[in-house]
Amino acid sequence: MLGLTGASGAPYAARVLRALVEAGAAIGVVSSRAGRQVIALECYGDREMDPGGALERFVADNGSPEVRVYAESDYAAPYASGSARTDAVIVCPCSMASVGSLAAGIESNLIHRAAAVQLKEGRRLVVVPRETPLSEIHLENLLRLRRAGAAVVPAMPAFYGLPESIADMVDFVASRVLAAAGVDLALIPSWGSR
Ligand SMILES: Cc1cc2nc3c(=O)[nH]c(=O)nc-3n(C[C@H](O)[C@H](O)[C@H](O)COP(=O)(O)O)c2cc1C
Repeated sequence: MLGLTGASGAPYAARVLRALVEAGAAIGVVSSRAGRQVIALECYGDREMDPGGALERFVADNGSPEVRVYAESDYAAPYASGSARTDAVIVCPCSMASVGSLAAGIESNLIHRAAAVQLKEGRRLVVVPRETPLSEIHLENLLRLRRAGAAVVPAMPAFYGLPESIADMVDFVASRVLAAAGVDLALIPSWGSR
């Protein structure tokens, strides 16, 4: 499951979704309201776009007809229960508000519930936080998540691969996210391989 929340970084989620489709994964997408606003702005450059329409277009552009979209209030979704044995939940991008909810065990939307299920079941949860600078509260929450078993993969591209475009930088972050989710798909050359 791919959950999008209202932090900057929707283009990372778009790349992750395209890669998951390429990898043949069964994917459900959930976005918070703020996540949909960020999609409208960062993927389509449109502050006025209807957030619901933005998510639909995002999935049409980056997903496949098999990708299913769930409402953030849909607790009938398989991800809401450990019995569904979801391989990985990726929260990308993850706002500090959602990091706080996850760290506190507040399961008030499907994204937070699905993440909490992964932790209680000892399955993969990948959190892709984006904020700067980070307060002590943010850092404590992230540490709490790491200690609880989440992979914390900050949206933090590197320059040592000599990126030539924003797409290259997006690929860097997306490839780290996929690796943490256990998806074996190389978007960029590994260090030392060229
Ligand atoms: C365009 C835009 C960019 C934002 N960027 C960030 C960000 O990078 N990190 C963050 O923690 N919050 C960011 N926010 C604020 C969150 O969206 C806000 O705290 C929201 O309540 C998060 O809710 P959610 O986690 O349910 O999506 C941004 C909001 C907007 C509208």
